[in-house]
Amino acid sequence: MELQGKRIVLGVSGGIAAYKAAELLRLLIKDGATVQVAMTEAATHFVTPVTFQALSGQPVFIDQWDARMANNMAHIDLSRHADVLLVAPASADFLAKVANGLADDLLSTLVLARDCPLLLAPAMNRQMWENPATRRNVATLRADGIAIVGPASGEQACGETGLGRMLEPEEILAELIAHFQPKVLAGKRVLLTAGPTFEAIDPVRGITNLSSGKMGYAIARAAREAGAQVTLVSGPVDLPAPPGVERIAVTSARQMHAAVHRQIAAHAENAADLDVFIAVAAVADYRPATFIAQKIKKAAQAAPPMIELRQNPDILGEVAALPKPPLCVGFAAESENLAAYAENKRRRKGIPLIVGNLIHDGFGGDRNTLILFDDDGQHPLAPDSKLRLARQLVARIATLLEKRR
Ligand code: PMT
Repeated sequence: MELQGKRIVLGVSGGIAAYKAAELLRLLIKDGATVQVAMTEAATHFVTPVTFQALSGQPVFIDQWDARMANNMAHIDLSRHADVLLVAPASADFLAKVANGLADDLLSTLVLARDCPLLLAPAMNRQMWENPATRRNVATLRADGIAIVGPASGEQACGETGLGRMLEPEEILAELIAHFQPKVLAGKRVLLTAGPTFEAIDPVRGITNLSSGKMGYAIARAAREAGAQVTLVSGPVDLPAPPGVERIAVTSARQMHAAVHRQIAAHAENAADLDVFIAVAAVADYRPATFIAQKIKKAAQAAPPMIELRQNPDILGEVAALPKPPLCVGFAAESENLAAYAENKRRRKGIPLIVGNLIHDGFGGDRNTLILFDDDGQHPLAPDSKLRLARQLVARIATLLEKRR
């Protein structure tokens, strides 16, 4: 229930993506929000107001002259108690109106008269999105401090393919939830590792572990919500990249190591040093010394094959030892003696913050229990979802960054 207690005005303008606004409304309600829908007349040609009324449990407003408001001022009253005004889909015509301050129907008037933040989720044909007039309008809207979420690229209702599809309802929901998070990492650059690594023995076998990637992906999402530019180097997991996060997929520890160093070098080249490195991945400490190109056969009566192991590079240790390291955060998953082992790892790797979790809490599930260890001592976080814990961790990282200045 990420949106519990939030009051949202959902504006729906005319476009085929209006049918997805019904699903978006359902998700908003499910997440605890109270939603008031306002539609343009054009939108009613795609979906009837009855659908939105049934899903929101509130009357839907379309007409500027709607007499249901006692003072006949729906355009003022509807946004007065709202936490955010979200227009999805926002058609090319609607963007143009808002960019130019036009107010010729209820929704555009409501936008102009609002006293809350505005989020627009554009949806249009790719040529309309690329048209110089739309580009100008979008630039104006951004300059006016209006958040534009999407569009995505892909197949369009008209049969063409390109940029202009409205984000999926789940993605818009994630953007909205992010909107309400404090921007404690605004402008910061964050690099993470997450998931397991897979160290191949032969073409079909390998050494890996039970990390699902959920903890690392939750932290990537929380850092992005907090306003950071986030890159996630991920081992093989079955999770979608969090919205707005750049994901680099790797398999082995050595690939993860190389990807992390490439990222650090690229940041340095652009004179935009990395601010934070968070190593959440459960990296295999060892890999088979040789990769056997053919599938190993079980030979009758022969002794089982021996696998010789080599040590993998310590990614976190190396980053922490750089001459000008980012703020380095490590993780420790232990089966016992969490405090002693975690603190020992923190000192050995020379990092300011390590996050301890017990293996039976940490691996695989949606919830976790964390203890943060830094120079100020231990900070236990109560059991919670990985996302909510990730947000608390991000807040602690922001405090440590502030202290480093
Ligand atoms: O993915 P989930 O299912 O959500 O599970 C999350 C998790 C349990 C994997 C995660 O919360 C966690 O604890 N990750 C670290 C696991 C661990 O104990 O790693 P370690 O003790 O091997 O390494 C300590 C630290 O050094 C870690 O930050 C690790 O990423 C880093 N490391 C380790 C080895 C190596 N070669 N390079 C590294 O960077």
